[in-house]
Order: sequence, then C-alpha cells, then structure tokens
Amino acid sequence: MKFFIDTANLDQIKEAQDLGVLDGVTTNPSLMAKEGITGDENVIKHYLAICDIVDANVSAEVISTDFESIIKEGEALAKLNEKIVVKVPMIKDGVKAIKYFTDHGIKTNCTLVFSAGQALLAAKAGATFVSPFLGRLDDIGTDGLGLIEEIRLIYDNYGYETQILAASIRHSMHVIECAKLGADVMTSPLSVILGLLKHPLTDTGLATFLADHAKAAAAAKA
Ligand code: E4P
Repeated sequence: MKFFIDTANLDQIKEAQDLGVLDGVTTNPSLMAKEGITGDENVIKHYLAICDIVDANVSAEVISTDFESIIKEGEALAKLNEKIVVKVPMIKDGVKAIKYFTDHGIKTNCTLVFSAGQALLAAKAGATFVSPFLGRLDDIGTDGLGLIEEIRLIYDNYGYETQILAASIRHSMHVIECAKLGADVMTSPLSVILGLLKHPLTDTGLATFLADHAKAAAAAKA
C-alpha cells in the first residue's frame, strides 16, 4: 500500500519524507489556503518547494472547471516538474480533460469522487489515480469504506489500472480497513500516519526492556 501525505505544510511533508515511508503528496486548494499560499505565482513556487522535498509524486489541483482552461492549467502544472500529477475534479469537463491528459502522457488524479459510477468513469478516462473521499461520506452518515470495496470489485472485474487512492482519511482504522479492502494508496494527514506507530503495549514493553537492561548492567558492575 502506498502512503501519501495530505497537506501543503512543508514541515509536515519533510517529517513524513524523513520517516522513509512516503510515496506521494496530495494537496488541494483548501490545504494551500490553510498554509496562507495565495496567488498563482506563490502557488507554483509552493508546488516546486514540495517537489524539492519529496522523492515522490505530488498531486497539484486545477482550479479551472471548463475543458479548455483545465487543459491549459494542467499542462502548465505538469511542466513544472515530472513529479506533478494533475488533480482534476469529477465533473463532465474534468472527465474529458482526464482522457486528454491520459492520451498526452500526463498523469492524473480524479478528485471529489463519492460514488462507484464516478470511479468507473474516471477509470474509463484513464485516470492514474481515483480519489474516493471516504471520511466525507462517513460525515454524512453513509458508508465510506463500502465505496472503497465497491470500486475495488469493479476495477478488478475489468482489470482497470487506475489506482484507488483512499482520501479524506480521518484515523488509523480507516488506513487498516482500506489496506484490508485492497486500496492501492491512502492519503492522510501526518497525525494519522504517526498514529499507526502507537500501541500502549509497545510503550510499556519498551520501558520494561530498558529497565531490565539497566538493572542487569548495574548488577554486573556491582
Ligand atoms: C484528497 O486528495 C483530499 O485532499 C483530501 O483527502 C480531503 O480530505 P478532507 O475531507 O479531510 O478535507
């Protein structure tokens, strides 16, 4: 399973990269705004800064919503760095644009996917990644993980190569369940990745090992 970090915060991206388990970065306009990155020039600079930090792919989202503008914006983003994956919303012109990018060798991440039908369209258009937002589905009382399961079944039935990128992940159990269901990738905040480290028995076990080691060393010296 690939691990992507879902943030535009450079310190958190560095920390995840240093951990040695990072396979990619996803951003979106809200995450960029959260870091105070505004204006086309600054947004571009920020993508370049992210590309400099990571040895992984970086999803950069278009803000255009009509075909011609999505193509223009996506081509410009793709030219910035070979790590860039153009993130395109699941709308009619977005599907057309994903097909265009696929035909022109540009990698895409189809975002804002909330149904199996949308995921099927993304795969047919040749998206590199499809991003079902499972946390947001859970938020409205529907079954986010159920959607991951449905998409896995459909993609396997037809051998679609589009990678399922489980997005809008809220906690460790989402990651584990997505791994069990066969999601190819998950993207989450750093806190969720670090949350996977935690188990109280690891902490108490380590404390006991270190105490026993110190006791034995002190006894050997006495
Ligand atoms: C995916 O690429 C999105 O950036 C992200 O996962 C959305 O998550 P949220 O629902 O926590 O905003």
